Amino acid sequence: MAKAREFDIVLFGATGFTGQLTAEYLARHGGERLRWALAGRSLEKLRLVRARLTDQVPACRALPLLQADSGDAGSLRRLATAARVVISTVGPYARYGEPLVRACAEAGTDYVDLTGEPEFVDRMWLKYHDRARESGARIVHCCGFDSIPHDLGCWFTVQQLPEGVPIRVEGFVRAGGELSGGTLHSAVTAFSRLPEYLRVAQARRREEGRPLDRNIGAIHHGIRHLPELGTWTLPMPTIDPQIVRRSAAAMDRYGPDFRYGHFLQVKKLTTALQLVAGAGALLVGSQFKPTRERLLALRQPGDGPSATTRAKGWFRVTFLGEGGGKRVRCEVSGGDPGYGETSKMLAESALCLAFDKLPKTAGVITPAYAMGNALIERLQRAGIAFRAVGAH
Ligand SMILES: NC(=O)c1ccc[n+]([C@@H]2O[C@H](COP(=O)([O-])OP(=O)(O)OC[C@H]3O[C@@H](n4cnc5c(N)ncnc54)[C@H](OP(=O)(O)O)[C@@H]3O)[C@@H](O)[C@H]2O)c1
Repeated sequence: MAKAREFDIVLFGATGFTGQLTAEYLARHGGERLRWALAGRSLEKLRLVRARLTDQVPACRALPLLQADSGDAGSLRRLATAARVVISTVGPYARYGEPLVRACAEAGTDYVDLTGEPEFVDRMWLKYHDRARESGARIVHCCGFDSIPHDLGCWFTVQQLPEGVPIRVEGFVRAGGELSGGTLHSAVTAFSRLPEYLRVAQARRREEGRPLDRNIGAIHHGIRHLPELGTWTLPMPTIDPQIVRRSAAAMDRYGPDFRYGHFLQVKKLTTALQLVAGAGALLVGSQFKPTRERLLALRQPGDGPSATTRAKGWFRVTFLGEGGGKRVRCEVSGGDPGYGETSKMLAESALCLAFDKLPKTAGVITPAYAMGNALIERLQRAGIAFRAVGAH
């Protein structure tokens, strides 16, 4: 039975760059029966967001506004107890995210966010997984481009292969788009906390352990040319492969021995080398205060790519899978990965938790485990393609 709460969905961070896009998506696609509200730290800014939404969708005139600040635990408790599902676009999550996760885990409220910060995700698992399991809350991080296409695309690929056999999947990402200020600040913050990240990841590994009767592992490769794709590929050490392997650990359908590798695709070897050098420079630059501040000044929180730039954005993730003598090639593709499609993925995840019939789960869990095929169907209806395109 649905929890008796005032709202189906509350969107926290509705005044930010991605928050406004998510609000727009819910206003246009949430449906008439959706009971939802905008939340943020400034009522004045929320009123402006509501006025802009009302220009596009007149029914938004009556949208309730809730004031809440990530530094005010009481306001977050009120928010969590008013909603069935809370969406958070308030980042960097390592800085602002924990109090809301705690409030949702305590209140038994489902929660989705856009983090791609591994330290934050591991810390939330260590601190709130057990509490969320007790309260019944589904805390689902990484419901944006990190990691929906990869996690659900791999799940989609696994389901094209026979059951009960060892399975190997490699995911290859191609994308075009620009970063927002919030994303730049989150990435630099995450890079600057490398020692904490390693410590928290190790603590999680110790506590979580591995499935007793199944192997889950990684596939590693350096820079290489892949004739099947006609492109160069390089390792992509984002949070995505961790999320994929956690989904595999949670679900037997991934088979008795599952391996996943995650890579970026580029046309030219020189681009691959430039990317490695750029990522190295960002990592090193994030460690020292003067260079970190120069990096952060490149874009301010709240800034992001224009509608014209976003309209040109695109992504395609190709999955090459094999198992039980069968080889498959699958693809997930869509528009602007960072913001247009991210806000769609986030909003659809919240709608999926609020309204779809899903397997019973709770705790700090992955998108594929929490929502699996129900979310794939929603995203397909919303224009994100999941396709099996033959063998490889
Ligand atoms: N993984 C992905 O695929 C993906 C894609 C896009 C974004 N993201 C992540 O999503 C997050 C948001 O990105 P963005 O570009 O939308 O950032 P943004 O424009 O800077 O928005 C941040 C939001 O957080 C709010 N906020 C800041 N401090 C707060 C506090 N103390 N209490 C309550 N609210 C507070 C801001 O409110 P004010 O308006 O009042 O300042 C704003 O609404 C970032 O962490 C980014 O990395 C991830």
